[in-house]
Amino acid sequence: MFTIGVLASGKGTNLQAIINYIKEENIPIKIGIVISDNPNSMALERAKKEGIKTICIPSYRYKTILGDDIEKEYVKVLKENNVDLVCLAGFMRVLKKTFIKSFPNKIINIHPSLLPAFPGLEAWKQALEYGVKFTGCTVHFVDEGVDTGPIILQAVVPILPDDTPETLHKRIQEKEHIIYPLAIRLISEGKVSIVGRKVYIK
Ligand code: GRF
Repeated sequence: MFTIGVLASGKGTNLQAIINYIKEENIPIKIGIVISDNPNSMALERAKKEGIKTICIPSYRYKTILGDDIEKEYVKVLKENNVDLVCLAGFMRVLKKTFIKSFPNKIINIHPSLLPAFPGLEAWKQALEYGVKFTGCTVHFVDEGVDTGPIILQAVVPILPDDTPETLHKRIQEKEHIIYPLAIRLISEGKVSIVGRKVYIK
């Protein structure tokens, strides 16, 4: 069975979308482990409710990275659970080289903008403030940069004249919940290949 590990720090709505999609579509994908750095993450609750194994591995020394020792622990847990693909779903820490090298081309992320526009935090706010007419979301492979890896899928969301950061983020998330599970499915079916920066889907 194709096994994924999900890393999440916050609300976990993307995790929920993945759970629902696997059930509704009845596809052979198992969520082997959900890991959070945040003991209060709703993602942990959502996983427990579904009988999915969870673990919280906090990192108190840093805010934006995990630190070498903690990264090693994440990798150990993911390997112990035979994870084929690591899915970052609102995981608020940047992964460093050792982690990324442990899962070559096997880590993906969902980002709330049309990359390469607006990498980093609160991308929907950045888009709104910049005044672009369209934004969206991107599923991409994770490399050593921040939101710079090869792009797998994107969805477009128009920005409306009376949008607030909240209304815009909500509409972007609706699209995230469609393209993230789909990208995972395509990878699990062996339909995704990477050539240089380009991702091809069969
Ligand atoms: C999403 O907007 C995602 O694009 C970003 O973090 C947020 C996570 O949301 N990386 P949730 O915790 O899945 O609801």
